Amino acid sequence: MSGVLEQIKTRRSVRNFKKDTVPQESLDKIIEAGLYAASGMGTQNTIIIQVTDKSVRDKISQMNCEIGGWKEGFDPFYGAPAILIVLAKKDWATRVYDGSLVMGNLMLAAHELGIGSCWIHRAKEEFETAWGKELLRSLGIEEEYEGIGHCALGFTDGDYPEAKTRKENRVFYVKDA
Ligand SMILES: Cc1cc2nc3c(=O)[nH]c(=O)nc-3n(C[C@H](O)[C@H](O)[C@H](O)COP(=O)(O)O)c2cc1C
Repeated sequence: MSGVLEQIKTRRSVRNFKKDTVPQESLDKIIEAGLYAASGMGTQNTIIIQVTDKSVRDKISQMNCEIGGWKEGFDPFYGAPAILIVLAKKDWATRVYDGSLVMGNLMLAAHELGIGSCWIHRAKEEFETAWGKELLRSLGIEEEYEGIGHCALGFTDGDYPEAKTRKENRVFYVKDA
């Protein structure tokens, strides 16, 4: 099995992270993998925001918890010390597809580097709030962006999850007779 196929099959969503910082060198490699994702018409209309500042990370977690309707104090990022947020230009037709592909690349690259990851939802709602819009403004991002997903990153604490058996009858063939 090639490296890529092996990584695809063995990557799992991690929901228990150690507090240890993810080295910037690893984050840079993961981000680069995201930037190389295919995009509709090659427009590269996605951006990635790295959040490793603990106070901002905790604020995002608190907002995500509120949006998700969980009890106060629950951390939807499972203690992950780093978050990569993927956003895509709001007026771009393939924004959700493009952003999702970036997310996939981030998770696979992290796995390749021995770093656990999990897609955490509700980025769309977060960046519709005044807080989210202000965060973009504070980074000098002027155009309108839609939140696609957060990639929670960190070193896995405990056992690595196992893949569920794949559901059957999900592939159909139209072959030459
Ligand atoms: C669009 C999308 C949104 C997701 N949102 C969350 C989330 O908010 N919280 C979470 O714990 N996992 C989330 N996940 C992870 C899925 O639950 C996970 O991929 C699924 O259970 C399959 O497990 P695997 O990634 O280990 O194969 C999300 C995955 C996708 C693709």
